[in-house]
Amino acid sequence: MRCSVIILLLALLSLNKFCESTSSCKAWLVQSIPTDMPHLSHVPGVLSTGDVLRWMAANSTRRLDVIAQYWQLLASPDDPRSGDYGYSQDQMHKFGVHQGAAVYQALDDAADRNVNIRLLSHSGVYQTFTLEPSKLASGRPNVMNVTLLLKDWWGSGIVHAKVWISDNRDVYIGSANNDWKSLTQVKEVGIYLADCPGIAKKVEVYFNNLWTLASLNSSAYTKTVMDQQWQVERKVPCWSHFIQPRDRCKSPLPQYVKTPHVAGYPILSDPYMFEASIQTPGSNYSTKLPQVNYLSFAPPELSFGSYQSDEQAWIDTIKSVGTRETVRINTMDWLGQSQFTDQTIFWSSLSSAISEVVFSKHATVKILVAYWAHFINSTDEYLKYLLYTNNLCSSSKYNKCSGKVEIKYYVVPGFNNTGPAIQGGNSTENIYPDFTRVNHGKYVVSNERAHIGTSNLVWDYFYVTAGVSFGTYNTAVVSQLREIFNADWNSPYAVPIQELERAYISSFK
Ligand SMILES: *[C@@H]1O[C@H](CO)[C@@H](O)[C@H](O)[C@H]1NC(C)=O
Ligand SMILES: *[C@@H]1O[C@H](CO)[C@@H](O)[C@H](O)[C@H]1NC(C)=O
Ligand SMILES: *[C@@H]1O[C@H](CO)[C@@H](O)[C@H](O)[C@H]1NC(C)=O
Ligand SMILES: *[C@@H]1O[C@H](CO)[C@@H](O)[C@H](O)[C@H]1NC(C)=O
Ligand SMILES: *[C@@H]1O[C@H](CO)[C@@H](O)[C@H](O)[C@H]1NC(C)=O
Ligand SMILES: *[C@@H]1O[C@H](CO)[C@@H](O)[C@H](O)[C@H]1NC(C)=O
Ligand SMILES: *[C@@H]1O[C@H](CO)[C@@H](O)[C@H](O)[C@H]1NC(C)=O
Repeated sequence: MRCSVIILLLALLSLNKFCESTSSCKAWLVQSIPTDMPHLSHVPGVLSTGDVLRWMAANSTRRLDVIAQYWQLLASPDDPRSGDYGYSQDQMHKFGVHQGAAVYQALDDAADRNVNIRLLSHSGVYQTFTLEPSKLASGRPNVMNVTLLLKDWWGSGIVHAKVWISDNRDVYIGSANNDWKSLTQVKEVGIYLADCPGIAKKVEVYFNNLWTLASLNSSAYTKTVMDQQWQVERKVPCWSHFIQPRDRCKSPLPQYVKTPHVAGYPILSDPYMFEASIQTPGSNYSTKLPQVNYLSFAPPELSFGSYQSDEQAWIDTIKSVGTRETVRINTMDWLGQSQFTDQTIFWSSLSSAISEVVFSKHATVKILVAYWAHFINSTDEYLKYLLYTNNLCSSSKYNKCSGKVEIKYYVVPGFNNTGPAIQGGNSTENIYPDFTRVNHGKYVVSNERAHIGTSNLVWDYFYVTAGVSFGTYNTAVVSQLREIFNADWNSPYAVPIQELERAYISSFK
């Protein structure tokens, strides 16, 4: 009798614990909005990246894991090598430089509180890009810093994921770099998941895979093979499915599901998804009902099997559009090819998915692409190729096709006056630091499903570069992400590509 009461009590206790751990999970969309964009309408309930990263560091008590491409939370207006060079203190303050300093300070404080911190970054481009993690780690056994060069593993590519995980329960995934400019001078979109240990644990697996790679001798674990899918010879990890099964090695990473009789990483018919009840305090449509969510990762060698590839998650979100409905895509870069490989790879995966839904579902596909100081010129040709879908759609009497592709360039004012204020001892015409005034978010949203990632829409980001996305059917997140897109799309900063081409691009030719 007493025993059964105790069992009942224990059952209630564990049930209570279960409810707590599943129902306390909350999500907010997170943005950075560059200063001096007065005509952008405000989307209520969205948090700011600077606040979220600062809170995550400040709230951490045991563990903090950060994946970063590079670090520049502290500005360098006094360093002649820096894109911040020559701006006055007053100007730097107006640019919002203090937000980056506050995030750095919160990390430094967490390190002083003896939180176990692991910092994983790419290195290169500029020597100064790993100074901050080195400084945080210096003399502190509780802070570990590693650099991981994906080039050693895939022949090219970088760590491009932007992920924070605090105390194995709070997570940020999004486009913002660990850079003061990403908080106030670059337009960024991400998601903050708070009190979500189940999701944090899944992202942690990917973090640990990267961490493992960083400690392995890549020459002992890579092979150069002919990649049948992309028709190039390239270096891949020796356990890659781009290698014939008999020539593969055993993966040093935790085992994932085997997919026999395939070359490469095909679309999965039933990718791993998980139900979770995620409340959205930043939205009036928050629900306690469990909804379906997923994570996706790149490159596929780091996670395939249990998780879909990041490319599939993008394609499936495009294809989640309903008949005669709209799917919205936001990206900095768009190229139907590779950017940094020795042999150039043609890549039509996303443009095909777009044309398919335009044809058979009569879908409207709206795409926002960044136009900025470091714009890739050939983008324009690939966008025109995509727009040609509209001609094909109505090209013959056999077609019953009424979908369309609409593309706008996103132009943050001031983009063409970015760079150091002083160069070679002379003042420039620049009014903002270098690598600013750009729309940098990477997401796609239909009426059903939202996908928020860290990858630009270029082949390299899906096959040789580290990237992470969170996707969800959560109705509140889906509708708020649509609102963010619409605010941008309907603002004066979004210009139909035909108009912009007349204004700038034709002058390049
Ligand atoms: C929720 O609704 C109230 C009242 O209509 C409105 O003032 C508020 O901005 C809404 N909040 C969000 C996050 O949309
Ligand atoms: C901890 O995070 C919450 C939001 O999840 C935030 O409201 C709070 O200010 C943070 N605490 C600190 C000390 O930053
Ligand atoms: C980590 O930081 C230390 C200083 O604490 C530095 O000497 C080292 O180069 C850094 N290592 C990596 C891999 O970045
Ligand atoms: C890495 O592996 C290669 C090939 O197996 C080997 O020749 C080399 O000595 C190894 N390097 C280190 C530092 O262990
Ligand atoms: C684009 O074209 C302009 C003008 O010809 C050139 O200055 C710039 O370097 C080009 N950009 C790229 C990424 O090729
Ligand atoms: C920058 O763009 C604006 C239009 O947005 C134009 O008026 C101005 O002349 C451009 N400046 C430069 C240096 O190209
Ligand atoms: C700086 O200005 C001086 C005088 O106009 C000029 O001679 C020099 O070439 C300029 N330096 C650079 C790096 O543009």
